[in-house]
Amino acid sequence: MNRRPGPQAQPFETRAHRPGHRPAVNPYRDAIGDFGQELIPTEGGRERKGRWHEEFGRVAPITLELGVGNGSWLGTIAAQEPESNFIGLEIRYKRCVQAAEKLRAAGCRNGRVVRWSWFELEDLFAPGELHRIVIHHPDPWSSPSKAKHRLIRPEFLVQAASLVAVGGELRLKTDFLPHRESLVAGIVGTPWQLAGTSDDILAAGAPWPDDIVTAYQGKFNRAGLPVYAARLVLAA
Ligand SMILES: C[S@@+](CC[C@H](N)C(=O)[O-])C[C@H]1O[C@@H](n2cnc3c(N)ncnc32)[C@H](O)[C@@H]1O
Repeated sequence: MNRRPGPQAQPFETRAHRPGHRPAVNPYRDAIGDFGQELIPTEGGRERKGRWHEEFGRVAPITLELGVGNGSWLGTIAAQEPESNFIGLEIRYKRCVQAAEKLRAAGCRNGRVVRWSWFELEDLFAPGELHRIVIHHPDPWSSPSKAKHRLIRPEFLVQAASLVAVGGELRLKTDFLPHRESLVAGIVGTPWQLAGTSDDILAAGAPWPDDIVTAYQGKFNRAGLPVYAARLVLAA
């Protein structure tokens, strides 16, 4: 369990559809339900738990991306690896639509975007259902007083270990070094093993082949700032 603490602890579906959510102000909200197969609205998430192979019409390793942004990574990787299935989570309506448009433009049938919170993965996936979890530039919440909002916490590593099959992996790219440090420190006592790190992907490479630069990663590259990475694998 890795639910966000405090009032945010209500299930995501409840919070996502609370009255007075100003639907007229956000045209992308309605677009979510009408988009088509690439974009699954929040209310369609829970019913797919443990049955994602049915959604794709085949059994294939599933990679989950948390916080897809505009979908720059998801659309590229889904086209590059047609033998795998890809699911991207995102909470912002506009970014959900942008990411789904990337999948459609690339002609990918092996990718889906779900409007869902990364704090509630256990409602969306069964134990061992995933092969790989990737996280690119999660929000830093750099102030210590806001640290409780961070995704990268010990609870997350424990939860991720339950959702990924043995031999699977977890990848992190971040501009915020404490995220990478928390991830590496947090594997103690879990089945995760450190398989590689990088202190500057642009200068020294990533701990995986053929790194795909995301929209946020590009901003840090252009500013000459390092992007840190870590790769974990799940032992038996
Ligand atoms: C800094 S952006 C990085 C976007 C993209 N991964 C990239 O590297 O270009 C972080 C993304 O995470 C999304 N996000 C924040 N909190 C989230 C949550 N609880 N569940 C899912 N996505 C979330 C934001 O809306 C945003 O698109």
